[in-house]
Amino acid sequence: MKISRLMFAGLASLCIAAPALAAETTETAPIPQEGVGTETYPGIPSDTIEKLGGPAGIKIIVDDLFYYILDDNRINQLFISHGKVERQKALNTELVQLVLGGHKQYEGASMSAAHGDLGITLTQFNAVVEDAYLAFEKARVPYSVANQIIAGLAPFERDIVTR
Ligand code: HEM
Repeated sequence: MKISRLMFAGLASLCIAAPALAAETTETAPIPQEGVGTETYPGIPSDTIEKLGGPAGIKIIVDDLFYYILDDNRINQLFISHGKVERQKALNTELVQLVLGGHKQYEGASMSAAHGDLGITLTQFNAVVEDAYLAFEKARVPYSVANQIIAGLAPFERDIVTR
């Protein structure tokens, strides 16, 4: 796994700084609803979805993300044992578009409902983030754009990491 120290440091700081990006919410991380409130998180330019190749490009990146997750011995057993990878791919494709300000309905569970009972650690969360960077690299997404996407998703950490 080719994650440089610099990248890892940047990633860690993103995860730490990320809650500040979240909209005010109580129990769950912000899942923006179509037509309600701000459509993008601060700092995410409105053309980010286009830069990723639109919904089709995002689907490819999410599919690749799950390829790397399932190849990642630190976390793959958890995903395999739940047996919902195809559902997760589809829902994450929706969710990424929503987080980036796309007009896409997200039809899955809230992040706390989906992950609250899984006992996920910050180390496991960071493993998924590392795998996301591999998927971005494969798609030749510029590092600055990849960072913006991670920053948009990072606020979910507080509902996903419970241990
Ligand atoms: C920002 C990071 C993450 C996002 C955006 C995310 C997103 C999602 C989504 C959309 C679902 C589907 C919810 C549904 O079925 O309605 C899901 C389920 C799941 N996620 Fe995550 N996830 C993240 C991090 C993680 C991490 C770090 C792990 C474990 C290392 C993980 C493990 C799982 C598992 C096992 C399920 C299936 C749970 C079940 O059986 O219902 N996720 N996630």
